[in-house]
Amino acid sequence: MSNVVIFGGTGYTGRNVAREAASRGHTVVAVSRSAPSEPLDGVRYETGDVAEVAPRVIPSADVVVAALSPRGDTEGRLVDVYRDLATRAAAAGARYVQVGGFSSLRPADGEPRFVEGEVPEQFRAEALEGEATRDMLVRDAPPELDWVFVSPAGSYGAWAAGERTGTYRVGGEVALFDDKGDSEISGEDFALAIVDEIENAAHHREHIGIAY
Ligand SMILES: NC(=O)c1ccc[n+]([C@@H]2O[C@H](COP(=O)([O-])OP(=O)(O)OC[C@H]3O[C@@H](n4cnc5c(N)ncnc54)[C@H](OP(=O)(O)O)[C@@H]3O)[C@@H](O)[C@H]2O)c1
Repeated sequence: MSNVVIFGGTGYTGRNVAREAASRGHTVVAVSRSAPSEPLDGVRYETGDVAEVAPRVIPSADVVVAALSPRGDTEGRLVDVYRDLATRAAAAGARYVQVGGFSSLRPADGEPRFVEGEVPEQFRAEALEGEATRDMLVRDAPPELDWVFVSPAGSYGAWAAGERTGTYRVGGEVALFDDKGDSEISGEDFALAIVDEIENAAHHREHIGIAY
């Protein structure tokens, strides 16, 4: 069993990952600025800004999951925040799982990432910041850090929570689409994929995508 620390552990992604990891017997610490209104059994909550809590919880982590969102007063800070988490994870010898956006994927091999083309205005700032956090990992992550950067499907998010099916596919940098041309994954199935990757580390210093 692993000691899993989830930054953003009360958010849409983080809460699903926390529930899945705790249900499989891992020790789970969820970090957020505000306490959750409905705490999950088996999850320890650490409340405070990421910069304040990280030095306390990362040294004992086996796995650090970064699932903050660049919204509110975290907007514009995520690259520096994640660089710090990656550095601390490396020092602790912890695996580092960073959740990013769909737009960092490519439509086909060798083609530009979606974020390099037209991105709807309402997603643009978050897409660019998420991509900058991927770029930071590739360029600046400590060489000894075992990281994986995970992009969800295009139709992933609190507005499309979906249901648990128990299935998912793992792709590389090229986005996965289903038979109907849709790119979807429910919150619970995405969490399943993340915890499977935590338990059976199959990707090292790689960018992967999760979708049906
Ligand atoms: N289709 C897509 O590409 C897609 C869709 C959705 C999300 N995503 C990506 O997935 C990641 C997670 O997004 P999400 O929607 O799951 O996030 P979310 O629901 O907005 O949750 C964010 C979490 O981070 C915490 N947080 C934010 N700033 C913090 C800080 N400074 N210190 C400590 N905790 C902080 C929040 O709690 P407090 O506010 O209480 O601190 C909350 O627990 C992001 O990278 C996002 O871009 C991608």
